[in-house]
Parts: sequence; structure tokens; C-alpha cells
Amino acid sequence: MISSRAAVRHISARRITAVSAVRAASAWSKVPQGPPDAILGITEAFKADSHPEKINLGVGAYRDDSAKPYVLPSVKAAEKHVVDSNLNKEYAGITGVPEFTAAAARLAYGEDSKPLKEGRIVITQSISGTGALRIGGAFLQRHYPHAKTIYIPTPSWANHNAVFSDSGLKVEKYRYYNKDTIGLDFDGMIEDIKKMPKNSIVLLHACAHNPTGVDPTPEQWKAISDAVKAGDHFPFFDMAYQGFASGDTVQDAFALRYFIEQGHLPALCQSFAKNMGLYGERVGAFSLVTESTEEKKRVDSQLKILVRPLYSNPPIHGARIALTVLNDAALNKQWLGEVKGMADRIIKMRALLKDNLEKLGSKHDWSHITSQIGMFAYTGLSAEQMDKLAKDHSVYATKDGRISVAGITSGNVKRLAEAIYKVAG
Ligand code: LMR
Repeated sequence: MISSRAAVRHISARRITAVSAVRAASAWSKVPQGPPDAILGITEAFKADSHPEKINLGVGAYRDDSAKPYVLPSVKAAEKHVVDSNLNKEYAGITGVPEFTAAAARLAYGEDSKPLKEGRIVITQSISGTGALRIGGAFLQRHYPHAKTIYIPTPSWANHNAVFSDSGLKVEKYRYYNKDTIGLDFDGMIEDIKKMPKNSIVLLHACAHNPTGVDPTPEQWKAISDAVKAGDHFPFFDMAYQGFASGDTVQDAFALRYFIEQGHLPALCQSFAKNMGLYGERVGAFSLVTESTEEKKRVDSQLKILVRPLYSNPPIHGARIALTVLNDAALNKQWLGEVKGMADRIIKMRALLKDNLEKLGSKHDWSHITSQIGMFAYTGLSAEQMDKLAKDHSVYATKDGRISVAGITSGNVKRLAEAIYKVAG
């Protein structure tokens, strides 16, 4: 028998439980399950696989020939210099570490760049290339005086659409890749640029197009520049791979510099994730070429107004490493050699993969693997075939058939070719 007091205690305890059960109903109970990220989700799937010879060709991150992440020796030396300098950890300004942004601008636009010499380039440090795109998207959304529609190539980097729509821009597509020729749909691209309403925003991959590895030739860039100019369009360059296309940072900056020579006033997003291997340090820059120093000052003030409520100011460590690599003559030379070394290893792996596929007697023409450039090969494999590669062979890459050639090694290329052969014939 329970006493009446105990009964009261018992009832109130039940009430409390009932009340807390009501309170525990979460505000997020209706949040729908989203799909894994098209690129970074692949890394998660790869990590969960216990196959001893699994291969990750998903995210675009360079690996050495033992499939290990690679810290560039020049970057290691620069980091040691930064640490040994015993600098304080005060905040950078809103637009970042000034010596870094100055060096980043010189790398992209060239020492002799006219707008750079005339002090007409406004630049802010960014959270790597993605952050630069997001600042650019937000700036255009707020200040671009015409229709806020950005045209991106088909296909484009899997995150472009989301970055620009989340910035409040409307995203449309232009033709870029021709499945039949496994090359550039140059005529389609020009036709689409000509069809865009005047003053459209056109996103251009400056070099090493992601995901296709197909770039316009210098002659084609000239025609693209003319078409962009004829429509009074706004060129918005994404340059995440400077140095990775040709192994030469100057050659890879051709399109950007040519457009400027032709009088365009473009926007530019830079990333140091790939060419310095500073992936997790998130080092990048967003810049705009303006018409005058006075205009630059106004734009700069608005970039600060935009960045401050977003993340206040950027991290300093990676920027200090990058500026040391860029500004120290000996380290800079060493770095350029290492960039070339990475690009060359990728070229070698392309050839090995193609050779292995041919040796197996594959009935397909794989010449695009060696003709494409940069970090990726756009294999032409279907989403189902990519699924099979993952499920049956523990080979992971994005569903669009893109493989990160930087993840291929002399040790895994044979197994990779066999897996592709089994899946595609
Ligand atoms: C890629 O395309 O794999 C890279 O740019 C990494 C990323 O953030 O998607």
C-alpha cells in the first residue's frame, strides 16, 4: 500500500515526466534528411569501407605516389619560418593579411599587370576558393546593377550552384562539354554566351576545368572574351587550380590576364588549397578589377561591410605560410618546382591508367584520359557504373564519372584499371 503522500509524490513525478516528455519534442523533428554531399560525401563512404585496397578518387586532393597526403617541402619550410618568427596571434583586418593578398594578386594578375600597378584591384582574403565564391556571389547580389543571374558551365564544380543560389543569385547554365567529342562544345558555348541577356554574369573556370579537365585553347579564349564583351557581360573567374593545368602558374593565368588586356573588369576567386596543398588551412582570395582608385576604395568599403557580419576576419596562419612561399625568392622557386612535380605525376598517372586499360583489352577509346588536364579525368562512366565501382571494387569517385587522378598511384593503377574494365568493358 502506498501512503497518500507517497501517492502525491508519485503522481507529481509522473506529471513532471509527462511535462518533460512534451518539452523534449524537438524543434528539429520535421527537418528532412538531406543527401550526402556530392563530393565530400564520397570521403565519408570511403572511410567507412574496410577493404584493404580501397581507392579514393573522390575529392580533389593531391596524394603522393604512396597515396599519402602531401605537404609540400616549400610549405613545410615556410611554416617553420612562420612558427620561428614568434608572431603574435592578433586579429587580421577584415580583408585579411595585407602582405598575403598583395602577393596573391601578383601571382594571379602578374607583376606587370596594369590595373595592379595602377592600384585598381581590390582584394580580400577568403576562406579558400569556396569562401571567395561566396563573397563574390554576395557582393554581386548586393551591388551588381543588372539582373542577378549567373551562368555556369554544364557541367561545373558540384558546389557552384549551391554557393551562388545561397548567395541570392539566380543560376543558369551554358553549354560547355560535348559528350560525343569528349571535348569542349566551343560552338555551343559561344552561341549560349551570345544568347544571354545583356550584362549577364558569366562564370568561367580560369584553368583546369572541374570536373571535365577540358579547357579552351588560347585562340578559343580570345573568341570567348569577344563574345563576353559583345554582350557587355560580367566575367567572373574561378581559379582554384593555378599551376595544376600546365604545371606553370603564368601559363595557367592566361585567360584572366588576356581578358584584362582586352579591357574587361573581371572578378576573380583564388584558392591555395591545391597549388600549395593548404587544403585545411583555407587560404584564398576574392578580387575585383575596378575602373579607378576611387572606385576601388568604395568597393573595398563594401567588401568589409559584407565580410564583417559573415566571419569578421579570416584566419592568419595559412595566409602567413602562403605569403612566405610567395615572397621568399628561394622558397618561391622551390614551390614552382613542386607544383610542376605534382602536375607531372598526375600526367604520368593518366598515361599509366590509359595503358593499363588498353593492355586489358578494353574496347573503349580512353584517349581523353591523357588529353584532359588538371586534377581530374572525366571518364564518361555512368552513375550506375560509378556505383558498381564503389560497391564491387571499393573504388570511390563522384557519380558524374569524375575521378581525381591525383589519387592514382603506381601501386593502385593496375587494380583501378581492372575495376574500370570489369565495370565498363
Ligand atoms: C573538388 O572538386 O573535389 C574540390 O574542389 C574539393 C571540394 O571542396 O569540392
